[in-house]
Amino acid sequence: MRLRTSEGVRRLVRETRLDPAAFVLPLFVRGGEGVRDEIASMPGVFQLSVDEAVREASEAARLGVGGVLLFGIPGHKDAEGSSADDDGEAVQRAVRAIKEAVPDLAVVTDVCLCEYTDHGHCGFIDGHGDLDLEGSLPQHVAAAVSHARAGADLVAPSSMIDGVVGAIRDGLDAAGYGHVGILSYAVKYASAFYGPFRDAADSAPVFGDRRTHQMDPGNAREALREAALDVAQGADLLMVKPAVAYLDVVRRIKDAFPDRPLGAYHVSGEYAMLKAAAEKGWLDERRAVLETLTSLRRAGADLLITYSALDAARWLADEA
Ligand code: PBG
Repeated sequence: MRLRTSEGVRRLVRETRLDPAAFVLPLFVRGGEGVRDEIASMPGVFQLSVDEAVREASEAARLGVGGVLLFGIPGHKDAEGSSADDDGEAVQRAVRAIKEAVPDLAVVTDVCLCEYTDHGHCGFIDGHGDLDLEGSLPQHVAAAVSHARAGADLVAPSSMIDGVVGAIRDGLDAAGYGHVGILSYAVKYASAFYGPFRDAADSAPVFGDRRTHQMDPGNAREALREAALDVAQGADLLMVKPAVAYLDVVRRIKDAFPDRPLGAYHVSGEYAMLKAAAEKGWLDERRAVLETLTSLRRAGADLLITYSALDAARWLADEA
């Protein structure tokens, strides 16, 4: 109690601190120019044309945010997600432009086909209407290599398709991108909290769901197996997603793989809930967001992937 009586002492003995350098801001990039379309279910988050994405990334860098995670909304979708490895697509152009404008900001790209397929699934669909795991790997590899060619620092395979990390590692090495790291969405649950993202990225599956390849929310021991598989295949960083409902999993992964940087992804639905309550005046957004991000760090996450990265960085700067 003596340690809580003044802000000075509280600050002195605080065990967990937030640093914007550990924040990663997701950005949704699309074609066009001067486009800044707000996503209805995610106030403050936009689909951005490449020029606007560069502005957003520059602001992130100015505020000390560590990195951005890019998702693409392509000009063309088909059953095979064939535009995912197009060097002229929005993500590839955004990577080049952001690296040129703010070279020290880490640029991470999402590698998945769901934004690029017309059916919204993360890979190819076989004759039985199931995901063709093996068959989908080469297009994931081609997308990752194309992101590396554009200058991405890290690629982040998010489809949870078995073997995707190893296939991408081999593909990057063979193409001369041995220096590009892999941030694996090693532990990704089939979650209701991705709802708003699918509006943001236009990636809702037109039939079925992702429960055959994303994890069952009831499982935590399985998360350790998933992470071990990805580490064995060459994952440099690991991620748990969503974040708040899975803090026990964050802690277990950190304890099991203490030497791997670990990310926690505070996902679209988690962001939308806080925003909605704040808009109604039911929560103090600033306190709720900073408390949430602190809890992710306390649970063991090193990197925080959050749509609130810019706001949180500004609030932390105000407090300093
Ligand atoms: C798949 C992907 C998803 C998210 C990140 N990468 C959607 C999904 O698996 O359905 C969700 C992120 C969020 O909800 O903020 N490319």
